[in-house]
Amino acid sequence: MRDSFKGLHFGTDYYPEHWPRERWETDASLMKEMGIQVVRLGEFSWHKMEPREGKYDFGWLDEAIALLGRYDIQVILGTPTAAPPAWLVNRHPEILPIDSQGRRRGFGGRHHDCQSNPLYRKYVKNLVTAMAVHFSENPIVKGWQIDNEFGNAHGDLCMCDSCRKSFQEWLQKKYGSVECFNAAWGTAFWSQEYNSFEEVFTPRITVTGENPSAMLDWKCFCSDLIVDFQQIQIDIIRRYCPEHFITHNCMGFADKVNYYDLSKTLDFASHDQYPGGFYGKMPFENNELMAANLDMTRSFKKQPFWIMEQQAGMTGWNIMGRTPAPGQLSAWAEQCVAHGADCVVFFRWRSCTVGTEQYWHGILPHSGRPGRRYAELKEMTKRLSPIMDELSGSMPDSRVGIVFSYRQEYAFSIQPHHPDLNYVNQVLMYYGELYKRSIPVDFVQDTDDFSNYRLVIAPLQYLMTKELADKYFAYAEAGGTLVLTMRTGVKDEHNICMCDRELPGVLSDLCGIEVSDYDCLRDADVRVTWEEDRESGVYYATKWSDIITLKGAEALACYRDEFYAGTPCVTENAYGMGRVFYIGTEPSEKLLEAVMDRAAVSAGIRSIGRKDPGVELSRRKKDGKVWIFALNLTGRPAGYEIGEQQKWKLALGGQKGMLQPFELHIYQGEEGE
Ligand code: GLA
Ligand code: ZN
Repeated sequence: MRDSFKGLHFGTDYYPEHWPRERWETDASLMKEMGIQVVRLGEFSWHKMEPREGKYDFGWLDEAIALLGRYDIQVILGTPTAAPPAWLVNRHPEILPIDSQGRRRGFGGRHHDCQSNPLYRKYVKNLVTAMAVHFSENPIVKGWQIDNEFGNAHGDLCMCDSCRKSFQEWLQKKYGSVECFNAAWGTAFWSQEYNSFEEVFTPRITVTGENPSAMLDWKCFCSDLIVDFQQIQIDIIRRYCPEHFITHNCMGFADKVNYYDLSKTLDFASHDQYPGGFYGKMPFENNELMAANLDMTRSFKKQPFWIMEQQAGMTGWNIMGRTPAPGQLSAWAEQCVAHGADCVVFFRWRSCTVGTEQYWHGILPHSGRPGRRYAELKEMTKRLSPIMDELSGSMPDSRVGIVFSYRQEYAFSIQPHHPDLNYVNQVLMYYGELYKRSIPVDFVQDTDDFSNYRLVIAPLQYLMTKELADKYFAYAEAGGTLVLTMRTGVKDEHNICMCDRELPGVLSDLCGIEVSDYDCLRDADVRVTWEEDRESGVYYATKWSDIITLKGAEALACYRDEFYAGTPCVTENAYGMGRVFYIGTEPSEKLLEAVMDRAAVSAGIRSIGRKDPGVELSRRKKDGKVWIFALNLTGRPAGYEIGEQQKWKLALGGQKGMLQPFELHIYQGEEGE
């Protein structure tokens, strides 16, 4: 077992190539003093490593690594394949990607590469081999990050001839015969039949409309292409550096690559966490989404993960975000640990004076003099270090699984139905309901084993296969509580509408309902009556109404407006030893609360405790030991109460139940307490 990552808990992303050599030693010593144990290097410095074709220069890296090593700091190397150098692009402009409008994108940013191009792959293989051979025996190098944020900036690129050929081969492998392929894409529509796979195009901009089946395959192909591009590099590194760990820095709910697939052959998944967002587009206090990112990353491999880039200052390229308040950066890092991070690496060590990211602030400001951010994070590493080794490898032991499927996400991004309907947001809405109740959650693939979960929430199960339907039947049969929603069982795996039954198709029997009609709520919400609270008038259906006929289920809520007033909107059905809830709309907050109250009770799910808004309660478990985290993510004092609080030993923090702004408490106990 490779365990070269053991014992590493705090790190930083460092770019020695941006600074004069005379500075390096000061940096290393400041890092050491701050509690930094590991540094990521090199992920964009292709030109520095190979300034001319085939002429490798690792001398500067050797020097930087040796210096860090003298300060007892270990190294992760990034393969710099997200930034092919100018000499390569000039020599082979065909490695530049082509966008959907047929334009070749230029040099000058990053990710200006076509990942299918055989010539580009040859250069990648040569460089990665040279790196792996060179660094395999270096005792300071412990692991690798492949490329950087796959899918970032790749937005459905590339549409070049090489990608076209790869797409054709991918389709041929998937469908075998051109007849099956034409049927799967429904090419009879608008005369889109193909006589051979060689006739298929990449989906460049059309005069009008797209084939949803073609677009689904294209998105899956792009994901597979990235996975394959990563695997080439992994194979090389495994061969020369069998003891080193390999990871990749994922981006939460970004969807260009299926992270479950991408993580399969990695030692662990990593994530880049920026609560301050990019260019101020996100709200500043984003705790729930950040928590979801972390739970998602843990779910890629069902194992603890690393943060490879943790916000270390104000974010921004041309436009900037707010500056984190004193205490906020450490609270954000602690949030990662509370959700299963075994190591947090801060991006970046020092604010850069050159290039695109001059205003993406580091631990050190431009001046290089340690300031408040350095002092704060240093205090945090000192405070947490004693507990990090023990925590390492522990997991939250969730009893709730939320199904996240890249295929469903792709299908909804192709046809969102309602202009504001978004698969990820829908999944996050259900997540938020559990988050606010302090109930730990895993995100699961629809191919995962559900038997550990008492409650499975599967929003928008739009594309349905027999296997998946059987799985839901079996889960409820065995006593699970299942929540299904609108737009379930609509299409087959090829994104073609099924027509053999009323919706939700084969799942009708499981839900005890039939959706006889539906309405897209473009301009108004529809009032709903929650049957146990008939008078209140605070429940709404939004974006969509499934008009439901009961076939054995019980109605929990009914519409109050429109021609379908009085018909069911939310239902509950007993199936086998389990219960199946069906929510035929995007429920308003109160409606969702009411349904989830009932589902949680039916599943016997317990919350970790009660807390003020902005406080997070979470837990990790390992070998019979349990840690409970209470973290105040706000700048105000806040309270909380965990079950049987007096019994728990406070391993970190001040006064039980009361948190100062951005304060963390950690309780420790034995399972069963
Ligand atoms: C991403 C990248 C980094 C850097 C930061 C800030 O997360 O991985 O290289 O670009 O964003 O923009
Ligand atoms: Zn291409």
